[in-house]
Amino acid sequence: MPIAPSKAFPTSSLMETLKTKMATMQLGSLTLPSRFWLAPLAGYTNLAFRTSVRELGGLGHATTDLVNAKALIRTCRKTMDLIQTSTFDRPFAVQLYGHVIEDMVAAAKWLEGYGVTSVDINMGCPVRKVTKSGGGSALLCEGSNATTLVQKIVESVKIPVTVKMRLGWDKDNLSGPWFAREFEKLGVAAITIHGRTREQGFSGSVDLDGIRSVVEAVEKIPIIGNGDVKGVSDAKAMFEKTGCAGIAIGRGALLNPWIFQQLSTWDLTGEPCPHAGWMDRLQFMRRHFRLLVEHKGERFSCLAFRKVANWYCRVLKPGHQIQQQLVQLESPAHFEDLANQIEELVKIRPEPNWPDLECPVKVPSGPISHW
Ligand SMILES: Cc1cc2nc3c(=O)[nH]c(=O)nc-3n(C[C@H](O)[C@H](O)[C@H](O)COP(=O)(O)O)c2cc1C
Repeated sequence: MPIAPSKAFPTSSLMETLKTKMATMQLGSLTLPSRFWLAPLAGYTNLAFRTSVRELGGLGHATTDLVNAKALIRTCRKTMDLIQTSTFDRPFAVQLYGHVIEDMVAAAKWLEGYGVTSVDINMGCPVRKVTKSGGGSALLCEGSNATTLVQKIVESVKIPVTVKMRLGWDKDNLSGPWFAREFEKLGVAAITIHGRTREQGFSGSVDLDGIRSVVEAVEKIPIIGNGDVKGVSDAKAMFEKTGCAGIAIGRGALLNPWIFQQLSTWDLTGEPCPHAGWMDRLQFMRRHFRLLVEHKGERFSCLAFRKVANWYCRVLKPGHQIQQQLVQLESPAHFEDLANQIEELVKIRPEPNWPDLECPVKVPSGPISHW
């Protein structure tokens, strides 16, 4: 059952309006319900999270965690878990990584048969495990391998093929605009560009001029700007300064799953809808956990929830004792007990000022050569 909005946050009529009037965008032959995409965050943006966010409205497109092409064609169990989806989880892409052309082509064909709506190629991952064999952002260093890889995949499937990449390997090798132009010629349907180089990792702030140079390099395919968007003012700056067609949001969606609904409302009316209140946040957490149980079973859902417990606590501020228990969650009954305790706490609080929150997701840090 979808999340019922609380009285303090009357979203049902808003959601109906969003369903019928949202500013759509084209991805090849697909019409997406909005121009706001969920960026993949490995370990977080699984089916349970995507479903809970889609139920809030306003999401245009979502992608799985990066998936190893070789493991996919061998149908390894862990990889099959990563591509878990449902008929409600649409439009939906699986993101592939790898550098062996035959594996990537075979995986893309397999995914088309599996029923995904598009295939995304990872050319942005900065982590050594992925780049050392030539995958992820390392593809940005090898013009001909990357273009041949993309060409072969586009030729082998009918569904739209997209690429997610960074501005380049480092500030002396800003290859993003060149690749974008080449990929468009090869038939890629859209490109998501994270406005940082591989060398930057997640440090500094996103380079909007860099994203603009990618937008200017292509003729007509949509460029999806990505990086550091946490609300309407960031989205406005991203559109105005880059000219991008859409925006992909990662960490901002963990902090505020209503961001797609808010941005779509702003797109439609010029005003964002009100912020969700404490009870809405708690209901979202309950729904997310229930879906984890439904999709993953009791034991795994508790382990998966422990990983996100701290970011819910950062928002809901239930106090040290409850937080300690949530990060060691043992069973659905344990969860229900803790959620009830949180409900008792939040129902008497005045509504909070959410925009001051800091993103709770840890990103790799230290010298990038050690990642
Ligand atoms: C924990 C974490 C996991 C990520 N996993 C992926 C991934 O699987 N595939 C990918 O293309 N990008 C991945 N990214 C990058 C994000 O999709 C996004 O490009 C980046 O976080 C910047 O956008 P944001 O500021 O909206 O989060 C990941 C980032 C983080 C922090």
